[in-house]
Amino acid sequence: MSSVEVIGMRDMAAPLASGLEGVVVAETRLSEVDGERGRLTLAGHDVEALAGDGGVTFEDACGLLWGGALPSAPARESLRGAIAEGRTRAFALLGRLGDALDAGDGMDALRAAVAHHRGDAPPAAIAGAVATFAAAWSRRCAGEEPIAPDPALRLSADYLRMVRGAAASEAEARELDTYLVTVSDHGMNASTFAARVVTSTGSDAISAVVAAIGALKGPLHGGAPGPVLDMLDAIGAAGEGGAPSPGSAERWIQAELAARRRIMGMGHRIYRVRDPRAAVLERAIERLGRTAGGAQGARLALARAVERAAEAALRARHPERPLRANVEFYTAVLLDALGLPRALFSPTFAVGRVAGWCAHIDEQRRVGRLIRPSSRYIGDVPGAAAVPGAAAPPH
Ligand code: COA
Repeated sequence: MSSVEVIGMRDMAAPLASGLEGVVVAETRLSEVDGERGRLTLAGHDVEALAGDGGVTFEDACGLLWGGALPSAPARESLRGAIAEGRTRAFALLGRLGDALDAGDGMDALRAAVAHHRGDAPPAAIAGAVATFAAAWSRRCAGEEPIAPDPALRLSADYLRMVRGAAASEAEARELDTYLVTVSDHGMNASTFAARVVTSTGSDAISAVVAAIGALKGPLHGGAPGPVLDMLDAIGAAGEGGAPSPGSAERWIQAELAARRRIMGMGHRIYRVRDPRAAVLERAIERLGRTAGGAQGARLALARAVERAAEAALRARHPERPLRANVEFYTAVLLDALGLPRALFSPTFAVGRVAGWCAHIDEQRRVGRLIRPSSRYIGDVPGAAAVPGAAAPPH
């Protein structure tokens, strides 16, 4: 028997792990997702303790993920300076990006812009660049000139300023930090896995981040918050004064399910309870509402009513599988409250998640082993006689 036949037989016998569900592909110190208890640990810290209530900034989360511990005051300052320099250098690159930022989709623009970076760019340069490119793309879409970074600001405050054109309040910057820290890492999610696969081949960091951006773009991963806001708008418009009328949320959701469409912001591969990040972001919206004089109250009430209606409809349809709100549901409400346009929601997810991607790239490099799973061949066997009249399988 040839070695090809031996390998083929082994693959036929192995169980097929479609979607790689439950397959452990790496050991990591970066984060743990406990789907049964609804807990997210980021490098030894509960996400609830870190984000929002913990007052941790995006730069602190980078220090934690890249260095293994929350940074001391001098280390935080140096990290803040390095990420700010990354923003400034990326801004200087804007004139040399060709038509990268002309793309209609923000993730396409980000992918193309980041690809212009040197392959061996360090994490702080990559993190600064993602924020600058996302903000510049958003300005271009609005027909406005990009705004140069202010290196004196931390990333959250500067990002809001570069997108909106006006200085952010401390409360707004703090809640964007809450968001960025909350989404900074999340186990072996699809974009992180993509970055690790590319890294495992010995390729460079920018190639890995470009692959990760491509994976994050998909609606099943990071592309959901824009459509969540569309859903809230549609249900709010069907009600009175932005509030759902009795049954309007339920009717809208049932119509989506009947059309075999998924309810965005609901369900998760790992969580069997409510995504803990949804609660962190929900509290951030509440805090923001208090400082903004309660302006977010109606929107939050609408979101909560839609969440209840969606949960009930999905429970009735899938009693065997809990489908609860995920991080994207309240991301939509929070980023909208911060004045970010909905087309920028997925790129803003990348602004936070790039911290985790860079940490995983470093971790994977230390492993130094190619990620190369197997597939089961179900195609034609060379030399086998074709069965007359048999239809060719679809490709
Ligand atoms: N709305 C409606 N039905 C859903 C659903 C949703 N949001 N999420 C899962 N389901 C249903 C599927 O249709 C499937 O039903 P079926 O067996 O009758 O076909 C069943 O639940 C299992 O779905 P599956 O695709 O196997 O689960 P998964 O673990 O691969 O999916 C997600 C996880 C996140 C991709 C999925 O829940 C989803 O598409 N959610 C909406 C998109 C979203 O919010 N993405 C952001 C994730 S953070």
